[in-house]
Amino acid sequence: MAKNTPVQHVCSFCKRLITIRDQYDLPIFDPQSGFAICKSCIKDIYRFLEEHDQNVEQKHKKNFAASLDAALEKNKPHIIKEYLDQYIIEQDRAKKVLAVAVYNHYKRMKYGYETQPGETEIEKSNVIMLGPSGCGKTALLSHLSTMLDIPFAVTDASSLTEAGFVGADVEVAVRNLYYAADKDIERTEHGIIYLDEFDKIARKSGENNSITADPGHEGVQQALLKMLEGSQVEFTARGQRKHPEAPTIKVNTQNILFIVGGAFVGIDDVIAKRLQKSDANIGFGAKVEGEKDKAKYDELIRQVNPEDLMKYGIIPEIIGRLPIICTLETLDENALLRILTEPINAPVRQYQKLLAMDHVKLEFEDAALRAVAKKAIERKTGARSLKGIIEDVMLDVMFDIPRSAEPRRVTITEACITEGARPEVELLEEDEESWSA
Ligand SMILES: Nc1ncnc2c1ncn2[C@@H]1O[C@H](COP(=O)(O)OP(=O)(O)OP(=O)(O)O)[C@@H](O)[C@H]1O
Ligand SMILES: [Mg+2]
Repeated sequence: MAKNTPVQHVCSFCKRLITIRDQYDLPIFDPQSGFAICKSCIKDIYRFLEEHDQNVEQKHKKNFAASLDAALEKNKPHIIKEYLDQYIIEQDRAKKVLAVAVYNHYKRMKYGYETQPGETEIEKSNVIMLGPSGCGKTALLSHLSTMLDIPFAVTDASSLTEAGFVGADVEVAVRNLYYAADKDIERTEHGIIYLDEFDKIARKSGENNSITADPGHEGVQQALLKMLEGSQVEFTARGQRKHPEAPTIKVNTQNILFIVGGAFVGIDDVIAKRLQKSDANIGFGAKVEGEKDKAKYDELIRQVNPEDLMKYGIIPEIIGRLPIICTLETLDENALLRILTEPINAPVRQYQKLLAMDHVKLEFEDAALRAVAKKAIERKTGARSLKGIIEDVMLDVMFDIPRSAEPRRVTITEACITEGARPEVELLEEDEESWSA
């Protein structure tokens, strides 16, 4: 287009004449179809879109607020606990704490929508969970996340690093929640974030360590603190590289419930030390020394307090934002035995379903199951090793069974577990063939 020869189009919407003198005047114009829109119409369309988006946002808010009554009815504490009971054995106290925390979170949201500034405020009650490895922390939370109507995202805190370090920024936790909420900001801002492996961001040697000795973890904790306190968190969409001009999504974390959990390996020693010291101060030193040897991990960990967490290497400001401390128990042999067969996803049931597809009825002798539980106790990794122990025995069975399509019974005996004996295989009687796992 020559600079001095104005070109004219007719706006396809308002039919006004559009004069284009240079490239800066150019409205939307398609040379092929002759379709043109003048600046004034573009502005109208833009305004319309903005209004529309605002209406949609308001509507989201209203819909979400309206959905809370039904959610409250559906997520009463005893209902949540019953759901978790299907998957997780024991840990009743942890289940109760979580059920109440979630229910109160719903209530708090509803209250927030209905009250005016200046009225009584219900504060958030974030939760910290401690318990030995393999006792069900991660499993508990992942089952909880699947049952709730509000977005719930699990993020591994050990993968988080301070901004500028290699790894994921703490904003990733909120970004995960945003995607769990189907990119709905209102829902994201009222969701639940579970930070797993939270103990891994403790300062390396607790309160006596200087900040400079462990800058990464201290930085992560500071960044997390901001989130816990409630702040505007900005992050880029998934797959988008972070650079200054990249469009960001903003989420306010003020109403997000945080649950953090970890094994906090060694915290029992911290607690034992404190108990010894305080009791020694009041003259029970000798008695406590004797008792201490007997005191099991569980008894100690039940007495954990904020001071112990601080000594462990969590900064006091964060501990202050996690008012509910919940401890889980070490699983004993009986609990492990139940885990093998009772939960919906119990390892034994899983193998039975797998082999049933090859017309095989899989049975475990009671003594075999007990031997598995005993072995798991020896390995000291809670329920985590159960599946591996069975898998070792099952490998050959799963390899050989599909050779034939004949209905069979495979029995895992105690010797299979303790001595590596081969499982018993026999053909099923005709009247037994119609069983199903
Ligand atoms: N109480 C339980 N009831 C049923 N299954 C359990 C229980 N505890 C653990 N499990 C099973 O054991 C495995 C390991 O448990 P999980 O990952 O929850 O341990 P964790 O407490 O998170 O340990 P860590 O601190 O090492 O992360 C999971 O497959 C889980 O299903
Ligand atoms: Mg875990």
